[in-house]
Amino acid sequence: DWTTGNLIEEAIDTIRQQVGDRKVLCALSGGVDSSVAAVLVHRAIGDKLTCVFVDHGLLRKNEGDQVEDLFTNKFHLNFIRVNAQERFLAGLAGVTEPEAKRKFIGETFIRVFEEEASRLGEMDFLVQGTLYPDIIESGTDTAAVIKSHHNVGGLPEDMKFQLIEPFKYLFKDEVRAIGAALGIPDEVVWRQPFPGPGLAVRILGEITEEKLHIVREADAVVREEIKKAGLDRDIWQYFAVLPGIKSVGVMGDERTYSHTVAIRAITSSDAMTADWARIPHDVLAAMANRIVNEVDQVNRVVYDITSKPPATVEWE
Ligand code: XMP
Repeated sequence: DWTTGNLIEEAIDTIRQQVGDRKVLCALSGGVDSSVAAVLVHRAIGDKLTCVFVDHGLLRKNEGDQVEDLFTNKFHLNFIRVNAQERFLAGLAGVTEPEAKRKFIGETFIRVFEEEASRLGEMDFLVQGTLYPDIIESGTDTAAVIKSHHNVGGLPEDMKFQLIEPFKYLFKDEVRAIGAALGIPDEVVWRQPFPGPGLAVRILGEITEEKLHIVREADAVVREEIKKAGLDRDIWQYFAVLPGIKSVGVMGDERTYSHTVAIRAITSSDAMTADWARIPHDVLAAMANRIVNEVDQVNRVVYDITSKPPATVEWE
């Protein structure tokens, strides 16, 4: 529409003037804000933009490939995928404490990003998908820096960049409208929030490849069923958690002793507070049936019915 078109034109003008002939780096997470920012900046300055996507191996099913496909085959931007899965998994071996996991993932992410950036050589600008609420939250523009610990893809601390923040005065719904107008598919524009540390904070305790596989497959079922029920725009977040509990079950004549998967789904307007989503029982039943049938080593599914507070959205 008229307003969105104007926002885009204005942003493109501003970015062109700011950048001139210089080079721009973007840390792409695949989330709404960084994806729309990347496509917008690319529209403005083309090949002067390089995007780096660090795959830490803690993404959802097929997510890394989908991000790569979108930005290389659809938008044709300079896209670098850094496959750092082994480095992250190796470093996470034996780490069980939630804050220790987050710290390792955040720091390693920045290190990998910095290594890639220095390999690329001199870059003058860094694109940040900062939104207006991020800035007003703290009352200052330094919010972008403060949030770097929270948002994987944030500003590397000791790198000297000027920032390009095209959404600094916009709200999420405006960014979504811009994304749609730029031809970014609905799955990305309407993507649910996903934490920077990814599935690591949805596997309680130590992360192993086996547990990652279980939670990833269960999560894919949860997402498919929510989408099929037409609830994907009403429910703020919906996902699977692997609490690391094993319990007794029965399959045919056999006793089993396998994992429990917890489903977490919440309604919210900002994730500061949240209520558990009243998903229709039939939808919950379909999820549970599919998870125990399709995901190996799971014999029980439970639904998390706590609000935030006192629970948080994520389990870690
Ligand atoms: P909690 O679990 O604190 O989550 O109720 C609130 C919102 O923030 C997301 N979340 C994160 N996002 N990095 C992020 O970028 C993180 O480390 C992180 N931890 C939680 C969570 O998914 C929810 O939307």
